[in-house]
Amino acid sequence: MAFYSQDLVEEIRSASDIVDVVSGYVKLQKKGSNYVGVCPFHNDKNPSMSVNQPRQIYHCFSCGAGGDVFRFVMEYENLSFPEALKVLADRAGISLPEQDTSREDKKQADLKAQILMLNKLAAKYYYYMLRRPEGKSGYDYLTGRQLSKETMSRFGLGYAARLGGLYQYLKSQGYSDGLLKESGLMQVDEKRGMYDKFRNRVMFPIMDIHNRVIGFGGRVMGDGKPKYLNSPETRIFDKSRNLYGLNLARLSRKPNIIVCEGYMDVIAMHQAGFNQAVASLGTAFTVQQSAILKRYTNEVLLTYDSDEAGIKAAMRAIPILREAGLTAKVIHMDPYKDPDEFIKAEGAEAFQKRMDEAEGSFFFELEVIKRKYDFGDPESKTNFFKEVSAKLLEYEAGIERNTYIEAAASRYGLPAGELARMVSRTGEKLGGMAAKPAPVRPRSRSRSTEEEKGLRSQRLLISWMSSDEKMLGIILKYVEPEDFTDPLCRRMAGLLAGQRSEGRLNPAALFQYFTEEEEQKKVAAMLSGALPALSGKEEEEKALQETILRVKQASIAWQMEHMDPNDAESLSKIVQKRREIEKLHISLD
Ligand code: GTP
Ligand code: MN
Repeated sequence: MAFYSQDLVEEIRSASDIVDVVSGYVKLQKKGSNYVGVCPFHNDKNPSMSVNQPRQIYHCFSCGAGGDVFRFVMEYENLSFPEALKVLADRAGISLPEQDTSREDKKQADLKAQILMLNKLAAKYYYYMLRRPEGKSGYDYLTGRQLSKETMSRFGLGYAARLGGLYQYLKSQGYSDGLLKESGLMQVDEKRGMYDKFRNRVMFPIMDIHNRVIGFGGRVMGDGKPKYLNSPETRIFDKSRNLYGLNLARLSRKPNIIVCEGYMDVIAMHQAGFNQAVASLGTAFTVQQSAILKRYTNEVLLTYDSDEAGIKAAMRAIPILREAGLTAKVIHMDPYKDPDEFIKAEGAEAFQKRMDEAEGSFFFELEVIKRKYDFGDPESKTNFFKEVSAKLLEYEAGIERNTYIEAAASRYGLPAGELARMVSRTGEKLGGMAAKPAPVRPRSRSRSTEEEKGLRSQRLLISWMSSDEKMLGIILKYVEPEDFTDPLCRRMAGLLAGQRSEGRLNPAALFQYFTEEEEQKKVAAMLSGALPALSGKEEEEKALQETILRVKQASIAWQMEHMDPNDAESLSKIVQKRREIEKLHISLD
């Protein structure tokens, strides 16, 4: 595939107004601030496709097709991206640089391939540095953590020198600043220009399942901050879809996969023979990661840190694993903090024993819930069983639920019949409430509609953020990407914030970050979400205020649901956030 620079792609994009281009294929009519037409991608007579000129995107409300101007031409003419680029460049009278079409060059030319190449070269460079005299402090650090030479090689560990050196090396290999900027390996600032992101750290290359280096984690050799520095997301690195160590673990032929928190945990476990260990990449475990694991196994053993944060992380991961159809168990590591420390102190055999004793995720959840209640107090105990009943309703009625009812009843000393009755009463109460005709002010809405509303607000806010630069700036004063609970929204918000800090809002350019057609469709749907029709600043402020409040409330609700009730620190953070929300006053000035 041919390679064209991002600058050239954007030049062609700005010379190819989407309304003009689409009009060449489909009759468009202006409707409000949008253009509409009959969608060419499904059989239809109604104008269900809208083309949004300010955002330079199209979206069909009926079949879900959507994307930027390149995607439209690709789909309509059945072309690849470079071919569509050529069509639009010709149309705009922009000449493309001559491409050398020999096979090797073609391969080199693909942007993704180039970035992969840079990451591979970087991994080799760091690897080499670790084994040179300059890398002695790194080598000593890793040896001090009891890693063998073979382990260091198997994981391709490396060393980034105090003064860097990677930038000069890659430049000497003929790579341009433009490409280096996209690689995730460099930092750019106005005063110093471009320089190595990773310095004075031991380096952990992150590989995808095909053993391609897609990013790095770098650890300080001591107590500095931040302890770990990770590559940013790039065209080749999507943190939510990769797991550290999966390239090795997937070939382990073990009956389960062990999921832990850190790089060092994975490495220590592999060294001890547990070569089915992987780690989520410093972020919360995602739905996509669970779907990937399901390809390789039916059982996941969680070995998160034994502290409160680790318990919380496990409580979050369990429903996700369950939803993907995976059996989850939790390995207890107390009194040690993490598997790395456990194995260092007790050895592999003792760890195997803990694995054999791993607790089913259901009881793990119940034990965590139980800590909120006092079994010495009858009322508190009853409330515990009520909460357990609600949890049991998450299982399908019939054999599955009954099995769990019996297990819970016997464990906590209640006749199974009694717990079963509590479960059906709780079920009736919840079901009954939903079945009743809507009262004037429903006391408790069912969770899914609340969730849907939260999601709608998040999507609406993304649409708003992408509507114009000033609006984006205003919203970012009040909202952070982390406020979004929906992963796609969060990612979009992060990318929009990135565009803002680079000084140019360009919604259509976001499509470059979503390579799969399905994702592009969702992005297009989100970006074409209709904004409420508002007259005047005051109304707009009010509507924006409401939307932002809903997004923040959904974020708090999510945190409340996923926090450990005994964790005073997170609770006080939540209380603080609530206070901030109460005071929140959006101003468009
Ligand atoms: P060691 O101290 O080297 O044993 O690391 P650990 O794996 O025990 O560290 P910890 O439990 O603190 O962190 C687990 C994982 O979270 C790490 O492997 C990183 O992926 C991530 N992480 C930890 N600290 C940081 C940090 O300061 N910044 C970022 N971005 N990620 C971190
Ligand atoms: Mn550790």
